[in-house]
Amino acid sequence: MSRLAVSGGEPIRSPSKVWPSWPVPSERAVELVLEVVRSGRWADGGPKERQFAQAFAEFSGARYCVPVANGTVAIQLALEAVDIGAYDEVIVPGQTWQATAAACIDVNAVPILVDIDPETYCVDAAGAEAAITPRTRAIIVTHLYGAMADMDALPQLARRHGLKLIEDCAHQHGSQWRGKGVGGLGDVGAFSLQLSKVLTSGEGGVTLTNSWELMQRLHSLRNCGRPFQTGSPTVQSGNFRITELQAALLLAQMESMDARVDRRDGNAQYLNRQLGEIPGIRPMKRYSQITRQSYYCFAFRFSSADWDGIGVAAFRQALGAETGLRVETTYEPLNACALYQPHTKRRHRLNEEYWRAIDPSRFELPVCQKAFADEAVVIGHPFLLGDRADMDEVAKAVEKIYDNREELRYLA
Ligand SMILES: Cc1ncc(COP(=O)(O)O)c(C=O)c1O
Repeated sequence: MSRLAVSGGEPIRSPSKVWPSWPVPSERAVELVLEVVRSGRWADGGPKERQFAQAFAEFSGARYCVPVANGTVAIQLALEAVDIGAYDEVIVPGQTWQATAAACIDVNAVPILVDIDPETYCVDAAGAEAAITPRTRAIIVTHLYGAMADMDALPQLARRHGLKLIEDCAHQHGSQWRGKGVGGLGDVGAFSLQLSKVLTSGEGGVTLTNSWELMQRLHSLRNCGRPFQTGSPTVQSGNFRITELQAALLLAQMESMDARVDRRDGNAQYLNRQLGEIPGIRPMKRYSQITRQSYYCFAFRFSSADWDGIGVAAFRQALGAETGLRVETTYEPLNACALYQPHTKRRHRLNEEYWRAIDPSRFELPVCQKAFADEAVVIGHPFLLGDRADMDEVAKAVEKIYDNREELRYLA
């Protein structure tokens, strides 16, 4: 008789129990949005946007916050703010959403894809150093999967080589390294506020910086080049602003942001302690310098060798069936990613050398590939808003699958 839910057995979590969902509509959001609707001030630069920008800067411990149209544009404007342009090389992790590299190409720079640290799935500092050439101008770090890049080593590396450091924090609103918020650890931080993110206005983005000069440039870049104030520089640019309606939604969420980030972090640490006891399961590395970890995705590593050769895809399916959660793998490595195809746009053909330089397939990313194909188990953040009993069910589900791995091996 089958025991595993994936082959008809009773699941660990009753299908009648629902997981927390995201986003959570709140009366406060309705109230603030209505205020905006009634005010007739629907465009950018209104009081709610100013309040939100101040609240997010304070929450992140950064001096300045400049809201922008989305997370992709946030990276693009961050690059433009630090003056990255044609043929400049930018070091980009091979494991990240395609936007991180696409933004580089959109400013005519060359993304140099670098492999990740197998312990964090974030860019490897030694790999980044080895990729530096006389053309390198910047490093983009993406913190993701409930882990952070080494933010002692990478800022030091950038300083040593005179490089700009940009943080892609789309997965990490509220993470802290030595008590300082992500997004303010380098020159510019870029965040997405797209619907699935832990702070969202449906679409939207944010840039953070501690530099007065960069803040002025970011303001100008998002606003058709208009000077931030009389006497500020003018920059050629387009319209990348957000609306006051988006700001109202964001402002409402800021009131409970700390509580939600802490709840997810507490639950994730609790779950990781249990998962770490199960053979062949390794939580992501949490550096001791991390004083708060934010989760867009919770991840852990599965070792097929410790599970009698069962593949991670079969494990993910079994875990999904036991828990009712959607269990996935990482993003596709950028050297073979269906959505990262620089050669499909003729405007990227600046010249033949550039065309060859932006070919993603020229980079080797074995650690990214192993994570994606053989190892990663990734679950979206809403379940982390549950309680400890919910976390126990996830751990129990993994234990149950391990105890019944013979059945799973047979099925697979
Ligand atoms: C790591 C990362 N960077 C950038 C982005 C782009 O953000 P947006 O979708 O708001 O443009 C995302 C979105 O998922 C992301 O996950």
